[in-house]
Amino acid sequence: MSINSWPHASRRDVLLGGGALLLATKLPPTVSLGGETEAIRLRAAPATAPLLGADEPSTSVWAYNASVPGPLLRVRQGESARLVVENALDQDTTVHWHGIRVPNAMDGVPGLTQPPILPGEIFTYDFVAPDAGTYWYHPHANSLQQIGRGLAGVLIVDEPEPVAVDRDVLWVLGDWRLTSDAQIAPGFGSSMEAVMSGRVGNTITLNGTIPKDQLVRAGERIRLRLVNTSLARIMALRFVGHRPMVIAIDGQPCDPHEAEDGRVILGPAMRVDVGLDLEGEPGKRYAVVDDYYEGLSYTLTSLAYDERPPLPDRPLDIPLALPRNPLPEPDLAAAQRQEILLQGGMMGGGALAGIGGMGGMATPGMNGEPAWAINGMSMTGDGHAGMQPIFTLKRGQTCVLSMRNETAWWHPMHIHGFSPLVVQRNGKPVPHRQWQDTILMAPKDTVECAFVADKPGDWMLHCHVTDHQMAGLMTVFRVD
Ligand code: C2O
Ligand code: CU
Ligand code: CU
Repeated sequence: MSINSWPHASRRDVLLGGGALLLATKLPPTVSLGGETEAIRLRAAPATAPLLGADEPSTSVWAYNASVPGPLLRVRQGESARLVVENALDQDTTVHWHGIRVPNAMDGVPGLTQPPILPGEIFTYDFVAPDAGTYWYHPHANSLQQIGRGLAGVLIVDEPEPVAVDRDVLWVLGDWRLTSDAQIAPGFGSSMEAVMSGRVGNTITLNGTIPKDQLVRAGERIRLRLVNTSLARIMALRFVGHRPMVIAIDGQPCDPHEAEDGRVILGPAMRVDVGLDLEGEPGKRYAVVDDYYEGLSYTLTSLAYDERPPLPDRPLDIPLALPRNPLPEPDLAAAQRQEILLQGGMMGGGALAGIGGMGGMATPGMNGEPAWAINGMSMTGDGHAGMQPIFTLKRGQTCVLSMRNETAWWHPMHIHGFSPLVVQRNGKPVPHRQWQDTILMAPKDTVECAFVADKPGDWMLHCHVTDHQMAGLMTVFRVD
């Protein structure tokens, strides 16, 4: 087990020499799992975090091991991870390993896959991570507050062979609603937000603090892992002067392709790995802009090139494709088809209502009743005993799941336990062979995805805008 170390020093790290090139942002402490079989302890507890930087007042948060984001966990593909979670909060919690194809009993949904971890108690998670890639972990109890107050961390599953890049860089993006004295604003679970965009914040952090410049060197090729841990904020990152290549989505490698219109879209809970060739000029700065919400674009950070000349052996003539993970191939011809309809929410509304104003008519959910539904049924909260599956799949068979968004809002739809292949969107085939555990759906979108139902159990399927999940945009399906 090692702390504060990146597992592969690449040839370029050596070339850069003696840590001359440090990341401007602090990285979460790294904990490597596996191999030595030692269990890692994750303690969920109140803490403080310097979200606004060391010179500003720190923020009272809830955190894993007193760190925001939580410790960066690394495990090698196919090795087992053992994590002892201690609940030092004054309320129940669990940990969900988002995107990792774990057995059902390790999925972290209270009442459905395990009893909640009561205050003062521990629970041990023990699983093998089958797929390499970028994943994250978060509670699945009182999610709006527990994630919104800081309980979230990244778990990287490393490929057996190091990937040929100069540096492996992680940006954990967080969105917070802070008061003027740097504290987390109250008002979680507002019924107005629940029927609209959810709790979008006013402060963005990168690896736990408001972003500073990111130091880079001309000629480098980096693997940049982007993780959106926001409750509700959708991001669309533009790397001015650069051409990000999408090489993995939600941990799963895809055919490398340039981001559409140069924008890397990240719904809440989504991860995108990009290959970034640093082709800018030494000494210059290039903005990274989030322009998802019309009229509300802002500079997230800047790539700041140091003065040194470009690395000599450019361009790197190595293809960026990552090795594929051992996902079972769906058999579309013999699939069992299921359809779900996403329903509810405020009608109409701007891209960011709740800030942009309402203008809807129907207001479901305004009196505490569910605001959203799937096929006419609303499951609310985070998971509890007695949730009846919406459909049952035969184990080992392919499921083609069609999701239709009948609402006027965007929804990052998340499926536990499986990473479906996205087959088509609005009747058109989806290119690049993308497997995603979280599929961002625009208003009125219809998406078809397919997966082999190879693991028995009751699995959640919900929107990852946490207010939407809590207010009814959630269901459960069963694999027999
Ligand atoms: Cu990221 Cu049901 O969770
Ligand atoms: Cu999940
Ligand atoms: Cu939603």
